[in-house]
Amino acid sequence: MGGEINPWVRYQKTLTQLRNLLQAEIDSRRAYPDPNRRDILSLLMSAVDELGNPLSDIELQDELLTLLVAGHETTATALAWALYWTHYLPEVREKIRQELANCDDPTNPATIARLPYLGAVCQETLRIYPVGMLTFPRVAQQPVEMLGYQFGTGAIFVGCIYLVHQREDLYPNPQQFRPERFLERKYSPLNLFPWRGARRCIGEALALYEMKLALATILSRYELALGDRRPEQPQRRGLTLAPARGVNMVLTARKPAAKTPVTV
Ligand code: HEM
Repeated sequence: MGGEINPWVRYQKTLTQLRNLLQAEIDSRRAYPDPNRRDILSLLMSAVDELGNPLSDIELQDELLTLLVAGHETTATALAWALYWTHYLPEVREKIRQELANCDDPTNPATIARLPYLGAVCQETLRIYPVGMLTFPRVAQQPVEMLGYQFGTGAIFVGCIYLVHQREDLYPNPQQFRPERFLERKYSPLNLFPWRGARRCIGEALALYEMKLALATILSRYELALGDRRPEQPQRRGLTLAPARGVNMVLTARKPAAKTPVTV
């Protein structure tokens, strides 16, 4: 046991490494300023408050950490699930391709973002295994009764988005991936809420937009196959509910002439 470090020390060490990497990025922007850069870090660094003060380095690091942890990991995991489902069920992939082939302008991101079947695939992806499985905790400020149970002040409640999304009365055959359910019926935010708890995700619109454009671009440009045809199981990975084996995919062909909303 001698050489092992405890999880808290390991966590602190990793956080320090991460903060150092982010600081190096901030330092390099300061060293080589370029007013033409439009990326999020450059915009954050040029922002000032009403007194003309910019964000401090720690504040910049914190913003980048939020984007990495809340923004990147979640959307990347959702996209991994979407790629899994569209290749585990080839008929879903073909329907997306047909919709893209029949739409007015497959190079226009706004057109892609409005495609009904593609949107339904994204919704079903986030319904069946919601990437953020749990809502943020809420703390009872006074004693409360719920479903016949008594809870005291200070009780902590965490909503399980996954369990609601698996309700048979709302979603018949809940373990079946069937995007059509979202074309047949409108669900209220009480029944479908991959982005919400007591508060709501600030990245909802961005993440959905990213998912749609990335999926449309990948399916138009590439032929992929699952490296492993066995069903993927969901597994907790920190805050996210991710595919246990990571969705290995094999590139089998390219379609260079394809028109896509994103240039690759
Ligand atoms: C598929 C992608 C995503 C999913 C499924 C997702 C899901 C969630 C969920 C369930 C919450 C908690 C809501 C609550 O309990 O009240 C949340 C909060 C949050 N998300 Fe996302 N998210 C995603 C992408 C993003 C992106 C792209 C960003 C940033 C660009 C982001 C930033 C945040 C932030 C900052 C919060 C905390 C908001 C607050 O409490 O005020 N998320 N997200």
